Amino acid sequence: MVKISDYDKFDYNYKNYWKDREYEDKAEKIVLEGYLQNMQGNVFVDIGGSFGRNLEMYYEKYSIPIVLDYSIRTLQKNKEELLKRHPKTKLIAANAYKMPFKNETVDGSMIVRVLHHLEDQNGIFKEIDRITQGGGFFILEYANKMHIKAILKWIFTLRLKNFSLNPYQQPNQENFEGTKKGQTAIFLNYHPKYIKKLIEQNNFSIVSKRNCSFLRMEKLKKILSLKFLLKIERLLQKFLSWSNFAPSIVLKTKKLGNNSNNVDDFEKVLCCPDCKGGLNIQENTAKCVRCDKIFKNKLGVWDFRA
Ligand SMILES: C[S@@+](CC[C@H](N)C(=O)[O-])C[C@H]1O[C@@H](n2cnc3c(N)ncnc32)[C@H](O)[C@@H]1O
Ligand SMILES: [Zn+2]
Repeated sequence: MVKISDYDKFDYNYKNYWKDREYEDKAEKIVLEGYLQNMQGNVFVDIGGSFGRNLEMYYEKYSIPIVLDYSIRTLQKNKEELLKRHPKTKLIAANAYKMPFKNETVDGSMIVRVLHHLEDQNGIFKEIDRITQGGGFFILEYANKMHIKAILKWIFTLRLKNFSLNPYQQPNQENFEGTKKGQTAIFLNYHPKYIKKLIEQNNFSIVSKRNCSFLRMEKLKKILSLKFLLKIERLLQKFLSWSNFAPSIVLKTKKLGNNSNNVDDFEKVLCCPDCKGGLNIQENTAKCVRCDKIFKNKLGVWDFRA
């Protein structure tokens, strides 16, 4: 069975991670803003969307914005604040490998800062292929193992096997996105060629590529103003998009084909995450018409974890 990086088990408040990371947050949003500029539609899923950090980027462009995350506690804790600012948002606790959406009903989706937690990369891209309609977009941010600092370090320390296409598991550290002493976490960095191959094998083509967070260095962040850092970041993103220098890479990809299903009713998009059967939904309960499994809406969050 594929392991899941369960933030609820780690009792991790991911919001705290962003307290001193305004540069990284804004650098990422520069890319997302550009990518989302000409995107619109009905269903958009922020896969592993946590407390909705990126919600404002796609909220106005889609009629059914969905934040999906395995951590039901994160969704429940942030529900009130999130819905106050963005009331039409739907919150779903689910496993990204088994999402509760019918085939080809999603117009757009994104995975940002989540792929490092997903050890079955083919499984996740297959699932995104299944739910996305032809011509739909999928935005992917991933941790790049071939960034300039890593390459230099590996050359000087002769760790040449790290140059392979295989994902690179970062050595375990204490307090690694919520882990405590002795706990291990899935934390993978990827080779750009490995990701490109998987994307293309799963019926998507890459429309655009950007490097992101070029200046992620504590010393620089201390001596330069945020405004100046972001100015340089913008230029580097634009002119070095051909490279793999930065620690984070963001792709805009498009599903092959063109078969808009135009589903604009949230409940019509949903299905059983296990057998993909239809659901009979009555208020806070959804029952699978095929396998009889029951799913509940708990404190405003649909619990479809499977
Ligand atoms: C580092 S956070 C990123 C959150 C958000 N995308 C952002 O950029 O602010 C990773 C998130 O992925 C979620 N996650 C990890 N594995 C998952 C899985 N198998 N299915 C759904 N969510 C998952 C975690 O619960 C966590 O909220
Ligand atoms: Zn079922």
